[in-house]
This record gives sequence, C-alpha cells and structure tokens, in this order.
Amino acid sequence: MNGDLLSGLAPTGGRELLAEGAVVLRGFAASEAAALMAELDAILDVSPFRRMVTPGGYQMSVAMTNCGARGWVTDRTGYRYDALDPVSGRPWPTMPAPFRCLAVSAADVAGYAGFAPDACLINRYEPGARLSLHQDRNERDLAAPVVSVSLGLPATFLFGGPQRRDRPRRVRLESGDVVVWGGPARLAFHGIEPLADGDHALTGRCRINLTFRRAL
Ligand code: SIN
Ligand code: FE2
Repeated sequence: MNGDLLSGLAPTGGRELLAEGAVVLRGFAASEAAALMAELDAILDVSPFRRMVTPGGYQMSVAMTNCGARGWVTDRTGYRYDALDPVSGRPWPTMPAPFRCLAVSAADVAGYAGFAPDACLINRYEPGARLSLHQDRNERDLAAPVVSVSLGLPATFLFGGPQRRDRPRRVRLESGDVVVWGGPARLAFHGIEPLADGDHALTGRCRINLTFRRAL
C-alpha cells in the first residue's frame, strides 16, 4: 500500500483499510455508475445473466456473466476461466474502456500500480441471493489484486483472513463503493450476506457487482 498515493486521489469519499493490502474506496465509482450500467446493457445482449451450477451440483443464487478476454465459469466439472461463453458459444464481450479504466485507477489508488485486468465477472444479486465465504484462487497470477465494484442495492460484505475459520469483518457496501484486495490479503476469504430487498434508482431490485481480475 502506498500511503501517499492513497491520499486525495479518490474522486469522492474516503478509504477504509480492511486488512493489510485490502481497502474500501468509498464512492470511488459513484460518478461513473450510470455509464457502467449503460455498458452492461450491451454486454447482456450478447452474454446474458445465468445462474451457474457448482461442481457439487447446486445452482448458485447469484446470476453471473463476464466480459473481457477470459470469463469465470462453474459447472459440474469444476471452476475455471474460459475464453468462450458456454451459453452463447462465442467469446465473452470485450471489456469496455470505462470498466477497465475504473478498475486500473482504483487499483492504482490502492497501491497496485500497473493492474492489467483480463477478466471481469459480473454478478447480479436479487433479494435473498448470497455468496458464501470463498477465496478467489482460480487466477494464475496471484500477484495482481482483485478490484470489486458495487452498484445498486447495498450489501453486507464479509471479509475474513486466509483461513476459512478466521472471523470475517462485516462491511456495508453501497452503490459506487470499490473494494481492492491484494498482496498479503489476496487470498482472504470473502462473501456476501443474503441481499435485503429494496429498490434502487440505478438498478431496481438488485445489486450488481463487477469483479476485475488478472486471470492469466
Ligand atoms: C465475488 O466475490 O466474486 C463478489 C463479491 C461481491 O459481490 O461483492
Ligand atoms: Fe470472490
């Protein structure tokens, strides 16, 4: 983390350290939120949201899609990154410039200069949807951070340590908040509590999360 870089560069809001290497940038994406949603519409025309199945055979409550050179997928055979969308049979939509720029600048402000994301997982949480504690560890290069952008309804983010048993912190994430974790926090367990019902001017009755990673 670079303390000098962290001061004053976020467009709005403050920053909260979650752990060494992990920070919440409050409101960092707020001014971009509507533009990001417009880009999302074009992505969904090609690769719509779908609820994937875990290797254990459970259908996830979170609906997902991807953009970028690689997309994260799960099915009965396992978790992996794939260049093709298994639903469309075509490459995932290109990562839009506003997505990439936001992720790169958030990583930079958090002390991870030179982030070059090639994968953006897009999650949609409807009321009741949740993501149980997990590590992001399907990426080849764990030196790159994870950048996670929240849009729409608020959620409770759980952020723990490198062991599943480490008690997670509970952090409320609002639309426009960005979380960056890397370095010593890269393999922290994290998740999202069941989404509370509500209605948001940007997204309606859901929360959208964009998670940028370097997969290859
Ligand atoms: C994730 O862990 O992939 C998503 C986290 C979030 O929705 O904030
Ligand atoms: Fe994750």
